[in-house]
Amino acid sequence: MSVTEEAVKKALSHVDDPDLKKDLVTLNMIQNVVIKGNKVTFDVELTTPACPMKDMIRNACINAVQHFVGKELEVEPNMTSKVTSSREVKEVLPGVKNIIAVASGKGGVGKSTVAVNLARTLAQMGASVGILDGDIYGPSIPTLFGLQGQKPGQVDGKMEPLQKDGIKIISIGFLVDRDQAIVWRGPMASSAIKQFTTDVNWGDLDYLILDLPPGTGDIHLTIAQQVPVSGSVIVTTPQEVALADCRKAVNMFLNPNINVPIFGIVENMSYFTPEDNPDKQYFLFGKGGGKAIAEQFKLPLLGEIPIVEEVQQCGDSGEALKPGSVVHSAYVKLAGELARQVAIKNGMVGLVN
Ligand SMILES: Nc1ncnc2c1ncn2[C@@H]1O[C@H](COP(=O)(O)OP(=O)(O)OP(=O)(O)O)[C@@H](O)[C@H]1O
Ligand SMILES: [Mg+2]
Repeated sequence: MSVTEEAVKKALSHVDDPDLKKDLVTLNMIQNVVIKGNKVTFDVELTTPACPMKDMIRNACINAVQHFVGKELEVEPNMTSKVTSSREVKEVLPGVKNIIAVASGKGGVGKSTVAVNLARTLAQMGASVGILDGDIYGPSIPTLFGLQGQKPGQVDGKMEPLQKDGIKIISIGFLVDRDQAIVWRGPMASSAIKQFTTDVNWGDLDYLILDLPPGTGDIHLTIAQQVPVSGSVIVTTPQEVALADCRKAVNMFLNPNINVPIFGIVENMSYFTPEDNPDKQYFLFGKGGGKAIAEQFKLPLLGEIPIVEEVQQCGDSGEALKPGSVVHSAYVKLAGELARQVAIKNGMVGLVN
């Protein structure tokens, strides 16, 4: 019996995307089917390079072709990706597919650290990523990338973001002295944020991460109106004081006047793991707070990040986390889960590209 493209596609129509709950052929994720003798190859185009179910989908494709077409076949799916977009109206930032705000009610819970490590991890997984420092009054993105004192250039009247490890970066910290920005009034701060969306050459990006200042005040309302945010991630630590502020932040985004979707909750500084005994976990600030909030508001708990020296050291020196470390692995899971929630939201509203 000769193997046909039609037979291969029919077999693959038995494989569902576990999140979008439709089969891969209907979702138009199967391309370039090539049959050469006993060998079948095809591209599987996922909705994000950070897809946590990549291996599972790959195995399901191999099994389906062998089961329905021929068990002697050598099946080689080539896993590719094209990030879906949440944005219909693209007056500003036309090349940016998803804009994700990282927020928290309480200060100092690790928002900027989470924003930077999410950006780094998504970029390592193959996505094109930018980061916009929306913390006009306390910009920490330059330090977290080790770019203090550098200035962005200009091309054709637009600002060029600085780049580090493939990530495009803009912060008020590159333009003015920190002490200067701190005395700005609200309108100046929000006009600066606006310019970062209109006057910066961001180009094409899968994910633009927006690091917000702490709190739930006026500046947050303004940013939510100035920047066409696709959704937010809310960072908390496990202590009750942080959780109370986290609830405020959740309620702020859910407020009908703001109405920014929430992709999920990140619990930072969840537990301490000694470097010489990674199996041990100490819950220094309590346990399960992030999970409780996620359940209360029916939101996904995107990840739990341990408290380790490496995070603070890398933050201060502007370096990336060591691949394979406990905390880096936690970020790989977090980035995958966030990318997955973004793809689910985009898939639900039926927007692709
Ligand atoms: N998981 C972690 N383990 C160890 N240290 C951490 C962790 N997360 C954050 N930190 C440290 O905590 C401090 C505060 O982090 P960060 O500046 O990211 O918080 P923030 O919420 O952005 O603060 P702000 O509200 O001032 O913007 C930093 O010194 C950072 O290195
Ligand atoms: Mg910060």
